[in-house]
Amino acid sequence: MEAFPIPCNVFYDVTMSVDSLLPVAAQEPSAAFSSLTPVHDAVKAHGWWRSAVIYQIYPRSFRDLNGDGVGDLAGITAELPQLAELGVDAVWLSPFYRSPQRDAGYDVSDYCDVDPLFGTLADFDALIAEANRLNLRVIADLVPNHSSDQHIAFQAALTAGANSPERDMFIFRDGQGPDGNEPPNNWQSHFGGSAWTRISEPNGLPGQWFLHLFDSSQPDFNWDNPAVHAEFERVLRFWLDRGISGFRVDVAHALVKAAGLPNWGGRADGNSSDGFPGQDAPMFGQPALHDIYRRWRSILEEYGPDRILCAEANVDPLPRLAQWVRPDEMHQAFNFPYLHAGLDVNRLRHIITDSLLSLDAVGAPSTWVLSNHDVVRHVTRFGYDGPGPRDGDGIGPDDAQPNEDLGRRRAAAATMFMLGLPGGAYLYQGEELGLPDSTNIPGTMRQDPTFARTGGARIGRDGCRVPLPWRSAEPHCGFGDGLDPWLPQPESWPALARDKQEVDPASHLNLYREMLAQRAAHRLGQGSLAWVEDYCTGSSLAYLNGTTLVIMNVGTDAMPLPAGQTILRSSAAGTGAEQPGADQPGTDQLGADQLGSGETIWLTAS
Ligand code: GLC
Repeated sequence: MEAFPIPCNVFYDVTMSVDSLLPVAAQEPSAAFSSLTPVHDAVKAHGWWRSAVIYQIYPRSFRDLNGDGVGDLAGITAELPQLAELGVDAVWLSPFYRSPQRDAGYDVSDYCDVDPLFGTLADFDALIAEANRLNLRVIADLVPNHSSDQHIAFQAALTAGANSPERDMFIFRDGQGPDGNEPPNNWQSHFGGSAWTRISEPNGLPGQWFLHLFDSSQPDFNWDNPAVHAEFERVLRFWLDRGISGFRVDVAHALVKAAGLPNWGGRADGNSSDGFPGQDAPMFGQPALHDIYRRWRSILEEYGPDRILCAEANVDPLPRLAQWVRPDEMHQAFNFPYLHAGLDVNRLRHIITDSLLSLDAVGAPSTWVLSNHDVVRHVTRFGYDGPGPRDGDGIGPDDAQPNEDLGRRRAAAATMFMLGLPGGAYLYQGEELGLPDSTNIPGTMRQDPTFARTGGARIGRDGCRVPLPWRSAEPHCGFGDGLDPWLPQPESWPALARDKQEVDPASHLNLYREMLAQRAAHRLGQGSLAWVEDYCTGSSLAYLNGTTLVIMNVGTDAMPLPAGQTILRSSAAGTGAEQPGADQPGTDQLGADQLGSGETIWLTAS
């Protein structure tokens, strides 16, 4: 039984026939493009998530209603109508659970309560009620790989001593060397330094070591222990009972470790590196993970067919990622290879084809994404012509700075290219405003543990987490009218505030609104994909989705467009004087037969 009824999105009304789920375009193939070979056919399967646009909310930076400088659940509830109006289908909330906030909430000390920083369980219930009213679904972030060292179970493990059931909830081992003063193996933390920390035993002497793939305040759970499974099944049910539509599962590839915890010489993030294919990493992608997700899927299905799991699974290659979304496992997995492909059209084409073929083979949709709270925002990434920042490392005041206008223009093009693709998509809060990363946060204000754990060598992820600008004339750009925001807002924020963009037809915000409306109207998320070779050059990429022809030009010159097509929307059309990036001509200035540099267009193929 659902505690809160979830409104049915009209596109997925189960009373509709299968044929009516086909995109309009698939019912009226266009003559000029009908000979193309599809890589992916239009979707016939049901499931709201298959084509949904899901908006990531990073609660501490969304909206601060109580004036303490940190965003809160009540702030989210107050602004949800803005997201409904933007045209998204669901929101994903990054962690709001009780936490010492050593990793911005990804260090959870109580999985079944709201951190007082963000509000109360009653605030959470109010948020769900408002989301239901607005036909928005809400997905929570589940952090099952590790807890906070302040979690009651870890505190009990510290005091219980070696070989106790309490220690068995986590991964404790004796150290190597005569005095046990060397870590049990050579694994490295994602945030830098060893993945092991030695504790003092209750008698005060140096004792065992515990594993933490992230910060030393984030001990990894022992997923070989059935008690850990039972605890997380309780957590799943707690939030499902409160009306959540599903979970984004944090580091979903890491929960189970290879027996014996063998040394690993590859990258700490488990991705492939020279001589070390990622699939061999002993801390990632172990086969037993899949049994966990099958069990979770069956729990979700007790609540009906609409609750979903989305994997943050950083595994390669793509056919392997598809194992996370087999019919009885998760529903979605973020397509990180797509995010990391940048604007390299050859790489993008290869990844899109590979994704659609691999995921079609298991009946799952692809889930496209360009930004999140862990990577440099795509406006900033695309503002470099040469090699930009390494994803996730951040940009500091002493680094080469991006060309923000160029980046925003290219980001609009990249987003329009992504939103035309069949499948689901995730947006990260603030990208609809064209926000860049903040690149001049002083070291003393940085909060990402990456910065401290690497002595500042890696800047970290604070730059993409700066509180949002809502209303240009209000204190802190309308983020909150009390204390200073937890991270300083750049000087450019007032010009980018939502209220300014609302009244500017050529704004980034209005581009997003129109893209989402057109995407829904043309059912692009449920659609098909065929490459249009004539417009796939070394610097452009084109595909047909139903009757919508999408062309992206990442070259330095304008390119000719096919004659006789109707323009649905260009990423640069309507570019007004105030629109950042307006220094390059768009299709409206070039004429309807040209596509400008750094521009994407949606045409009706006829
Ligand atoms: C995931 C989160 C990231 C967090 C890490 C540890 O990658 O997205 O923000 O730091 O897991 O929980």
